[in-house]
Amino acid sequence: MESFVRGLPKTELHIHIEGTLEPEMMFEMGERNGVALPFQSVEDVAAAYEFDDLQSFLDIYYQAAAVLQTENDFAQLMAAYLAKAASDGVRHAEIFFDPQTHTERGIDIGTVIRGFARGQKRVAEVSSTLILCFLRHLSPESAVEVFEQARPYLAYIQGVGLDSGELGNPPELFAEAYRRAVEAGLRPVAHAGEEGPAEYIWSALDVLGVERIDHGVRAADDPALVERLVREQIPLTMCPLSNQKLQVFPDLRCHNLKELLDAGVLVTVNSDDPAYFGGYVGDNYLAIATALDLSCDDLAQLARNSVTASFLPEDRKVALQQEITEYVASVL
Ligand code: ADE
Ligand code: ZN
Repeated sequence: MESFVRGLPKTELHIHIEGTLEPEMMFEMGERNGVALPFQSVEDVAAAYEFDDLQSFLDIYYQAAAVLQTENDFAQLMAAYLAKAASDGVRHAEIFFDPQTHTERGIDIGTVIRGFARGQKRVAEVSSTLILCFLRHLSPESAVEVFEQARPYLAYIQGVGLDSGELGNPPELFAEAYRRAVEAGLRPVAHAGEEGPAEYIWSALDVLGVERIDHGVRAADDPALVERLVREQIPLTMCPLSNQKLQVFPDLRCHNLKELLDAGVLVTVNSDDPAYFGGYVGDNYLAIATALDLSCDDLAQLARNSVTASFLPEDRKVALQQEITEYVASVL
């Protein structure tokens, strides 16, 4: 099953580029840029990555991102991720970045975006686009402000998203920032129903008008919502190892991915913050397959869903679905 998963053509739709910062690169950049870290060694880091919930992870994650300083740093991070993705069978990635994490500490948004663009160019085998995310623990005004700072760079960006601490920060607060982003042509998505309630999924759909829900595991609490997700084929970008590390489920065997997949929801598997959660996208496919006893047919369906749920043009989707069909026929 391992080689089946690694070779299975797929897209990655829920990956935070700042969450691909591996400890080794974090130390390298910290030293190069004179940024002190709260850890002494890679072993220290492993001990610190025991999380109780989303917030306990975010506290460390935002601190670590401070090592990213120059255009080169952002390019190096992006190229390293895309090279890993290529070895996992990823053909296309739609990649979140959090500009406020960098602009709040005085880094120019142009440095961030130009750096990512350079890194994207270095890895030709994986196509990729950027999704600008607003940090929901910051104010709605700050979201509007960072969107305006990003305006000169919209040619580099395909989508707009919403992440960070969910509870108490509902989607509707960010209606104005989304209105501007959508008017400018960006495709809207949002994290909802990770730790927050099913109501946040409704408001992400109805107030922000999102086309995909990131995580969305709490949708299962609300049968009318599940019915809508199925009827409208609204994708959920799920991240099993993230949910396990952040204790969204008491055990991966309790994860509701298979239940929602079987109900007809357009479920996808993704990696969220792989440097923190113990694995890239292939590891996520394998972990959830083991925990829920998924078949190779289920895994192929998840890969097909990842293509359907992407923002790729129709001709590229058709070609990738064909590639999956041929791959499955050749190995099964
Ligand atoms: N930022 C990075 N990872 C996140 C997650 N899992 N939920 C919300 N915000 C995030
Ligand atoms: Zn996420």
